[in-house]
Amino acid sequence: MRRSIARALIRPLALAATMTAIPLMGAAPVAADSVVVGGFPIEISQAPWTVALSSRDRFGGTRAGQFCGGVAVSRTTVLTAAHCVAEEVLGAPANQMRDLKVIAGRTDLLSGEGEEIALKDARVNPHYDAVTNSGDFAVLTLAAPLPQSAVVAMAPAGDPAYTAGTQAMVSGWGDTTGGGTYAHRLHAARVRVLADDLCARAYPGGLDGVYRADSMLCAGEVAGGPDACQGDSGGPLVASGRLIGLVSWGSGCGRPGSPGVYTRVSDVLRTLKPAAAGPQRPHKGS
Ligand code: ARG
Repeated sequence: MRRSIARALIRPLALAATMTAIPLMGAAPVAADSVVVGGFPIEISQAPWTVALSSRDRFGGTRAGQFCGGVAVSRTTVLTAAHCVAEEVLGAPANQMRDLKVIAGRTDLLSGEGEEIALKDARVNPHYDAVTNSGDFAVLTLAAPLPQSAVVAMAPAGDPAYTAGTQAMVSGWGDTTGGGTYAHRLHAARVRVLADDLCARAYPGGLDGVYRADSMLCAGEVAGGPDACQGDSGGPLVASGRLIGLVSWGSGCGRPGSPGVYTRVSDVLRTLKPAAAGPQRPHKGS
């Protein structure tokens, strides 16, 4: 039972919603108005790289079909979480889903603001491990380009933005209470990058996942509080103006001792680099 609940917590919003009959004991109530738990509403212009993934066919139209977040890293490339676009979640390979779209430039999902862009391609990281949650990213190629102003730079390995203690901001349309209250306006929360040893102690190998410092980072406040939550997955964690993480998993939302875990963007970069780069990562400054 604990296992099914734990796994439910790392599912995107729509799957979690189908499980509302199960009391979410893992998601202990946290302060209301939290992203994003403990957060605050923002305008899309404050984090214009934040996009919503949408499929009205699969997830219904009430919130424009939003089921995960994503982030624009080039005019035609969006990163999201692998677990958002896995076949088990979508019911079909992401590539074959006609109405899978990226919504950009929209603060309120209930408005017609911004644009909805179809996908030309969707690639799930073949090394994604659903047991540990490592390698939790997918690369979406858009059928039409976004404005350059919507693109955020990815922080390379060794970038000081990854240093523990750095202030970062996570944004998305996910659960704002940990109790299934899905926002229709974009929210953000301020979190701090936490030290790897602290993250490893928080997640030594439980049912929710296992902390792997090479492919993940964790962020929050040690005492709990601001955090991402269900429905925010795939969305951006930005520090010093650069993308350092993608919302991936956590045990509940905003709980003391259970920080949010993010896909480490430097590891995404390493994986995406041409094979010529080999398995060794350049150790510039690290
Ligand atoms: N897996 C969730 C999703 O699919 C995101 C969970 C993030 N949890 C956290 N406590 N930061 O939307």
